[in-house]
Amino acid sequence: MSHSAHGARHVAIIMDGNGRWAKQRHLPRAMGHRRGVEAVRALVRAIRPLGIDTLTLYAFSSENWKRPEDEVSDLMGLLRHFIKSDLNEFITNDVKLKIIGDYRVLPGDLVTLIEGALAKTAGGRGGTLAVALNYGSQQEIVRAANAAAARGVITLDSLAAELDTADLPPLDLLVRTSGEVRLSNFLLWQAAYAELYFTDVLWPDFTVGHLEQALTEFANRERRYGGR
Ligand code: FPP
Repeated sequence: MSHSAHGARHVAIIMDGNGRWAKQRHLPRAMGHRRGVEAVRALVRAIRPLGIDTLTLYAFSSENWKRPEDEVSDLMGLLRHFIKSDLNEFITNDVKLKIIGDYRVLPGDLVTLIEGALAKTAGGRGGTLAVALNYGSQQEIVRAANAAAARGVITLDSLAAELDTADLPPLDLLVRTSGEVRLSNFLLWQAAYAELYFTDVLWPDFTVGHLEQALTEFANRERRYGGR
């Protein structure tokens, strides 16, 4: 696909199906998450080649704390490992890391790693990887509404300016894998005019080619923003 022929600047993905991928293979769930990180890595490398500005990934929701303790700690371990192993590649590829959600309540060493990575990639101009950590869209909207109210009257713009995504381009395309057809408290405000794309592919099997298919479909949809 030629650079930005699809016109999507900001793509977000609900990465679902790691558990089912592992179950199908009689493997522990942790293996599904581990393979899920491989899928993440391939997509991050493709940000620039695919001509998108921002890729936002739902890695850990504010509801995911309800999972068994060992699964939560597996996911934290994978994030730790991902930042350590891929930070240099981000810097080389000029990719900027961004976090949405309240990551400050994560384990202290992970917060330190994240803040180091944010600082080291802050100047990145080759695209943005936004990772949602301890993110919940309703919580984000309530917090943003309170912040906007504290500054004066709430308007569409004053509220949007307080969202975690304030400095990101408008959301164009929201993808969810594994056949589930719901938003699960992800980017509810931001998805107002986004195109939604659902695929049965389980997250560990999701490739750059699958994202290209989604972008091709996006390019063929007619966006009206309520007009006609
Ligand atoms: C959904 O699968 C996936 C998650 C809850 C976690 C997603 C996290 C990763 C892919 C790894 C860490 C991310 C980064 C950015 C390095 P599920 O467990 O809900 O699957 P199931 O619905 O089949 O059980």
